[in-house]
Amino acid sequence: MSEIEGSLRIVEGRTELFVPILHSSRGPGKRQGRVFYNEQMAFNRDLSVMLFNAIDFTGKEALDSMAGTGARGIRVANEGARDFTIYVNDSSEEALQYIERNIELNNLDNCRASNSDMRCLLSNRPFDYVDVDPFGTPVPYVSAAIQGCKRNGILGITATDTAPLAGTHPKKCVRRYGAKSVRCTFGHELGLRILVGYLVRKAAELDMGAKPILCFYADHYFRLYMRLRASALEADRSLDQLGYIRYRPEDGFRSFSREYDCTDSYGPLWGGPLYDRTILESMEVHDGLADRTRCIKYLSIWKEELDVPYFYDNDEIASMLHASPPPMDRLFEKLGEVGKISRAHFSPTAFKTDLNLTDLIGIVSEIV
Ligand SMILES: C[S@@+](CC[C@H](N)C(=O)[O-])C[C@H]1O[C@@H](n2cnc3c(N)ncnc32)[C@H](O)[C@@H]1O
Repeated sequence: MSEIEGSLRIVEGRTELFVPILHSSRGPGKRQGRVFYNEQMAFNRDLSVMLFNAIDFTGKEALDSMAGTGARGIRVANEGARDFTIYVNDSSEEALQYIERNIELNNLDNCRASNSDMRCLLSNRPFDYVDVDPFGTPVPYVSAAIQGCKRNGILGITATDTAPLAGTHPKKCVRRYGAKSVRCTFGHELGLRILVGYLVRKAAELDMGAKPILCFYADHYFRLYMRLRASALEADRSLDQLGYIRYRPEDGFRSFSREYDCTDSYGPLWGGPLYDRTILESMEVHDGLADRTRCIKYLSIWKEELDVPYFYDNDEIASMLHASPPPMDRLFEKLGEVGKISRAHFSPTAFKTDLNLTDLIGIVSEIV
């Protein structure tokens, strides 16, 4: 098999890939060579493999619409059940060269290479699964992806524009997502929920419900897997779960509300669960994933994470008390005596609880 000039043969998970010698190894994945590949996203792709193995996709058709070297689609096709077809597409001709070579390298007969603008491809035919993985915001591609998803299909979306969503550029968040954001301790959850809420509103425009299967934040990006349902009733049900987070930076107060208050409400955003717990339970961390340790860690946190739409941070509460933060296990033990508490995947010091802030501060003040 001929090599592609300027490429390197690597193994990610259980799949061999040609990738450009010049590629990103970490960070938000700026395009370095002419074809994009980011090593750090291997964890993100591991989760796609795990999800495809947890859902029955027999006889279905998936589209990796912005595939770069094809790493995600080709791994999904290669590392699990092979009884479905995946189209691996990129608008760049140079990327196509990698996609074709990588399909050949892994001897895959359930993969088809394609070289179109994803919006053209999706306007011609729908798929059961559509993956959208652009540089930065997914906004320009969301309408095409929703319209190109079959009834009850699944959307997989990556967004690396975390700064506008998480409150660093609030005006941009209004322009792109039609939502108000704010800089705060729980900004990454706020941003994730604004993005989910945006998807729900876009789907509702087309009389479709949208429900999270697995939505999370990691490293520098948000990742959403959403199940679409073609039904006006389901669209209304999804919209019913939108609301606002009321937040006062002066004292850290936060709560979820269906109502908008112009002084301290942020959103609209998704207030419901971020995970389909049945699917989480059936996701297995197989041998041979690229970053098994990280998959095990995240999966265990998602399984326990409470369905509260914001988190607190141990350091934040301690600084309100002008004290050093207590050890996390001590905090969990003490709060667990009076309420519910769980870890939250957004940061190692993040936690969720059903206690209100006043009670929370009262209890933490006894252990700092
Ligand atoms: C972030 S990279 C994708 C990375 C890839 N999914 C992976 O896991 O390695 C974004 C890719 O989208 C492609 N792209 C940009 N606009 C596109 C469009 N309108 N249709 C199809 N592909 C597009 C770019 O050529 C680029 O390869």
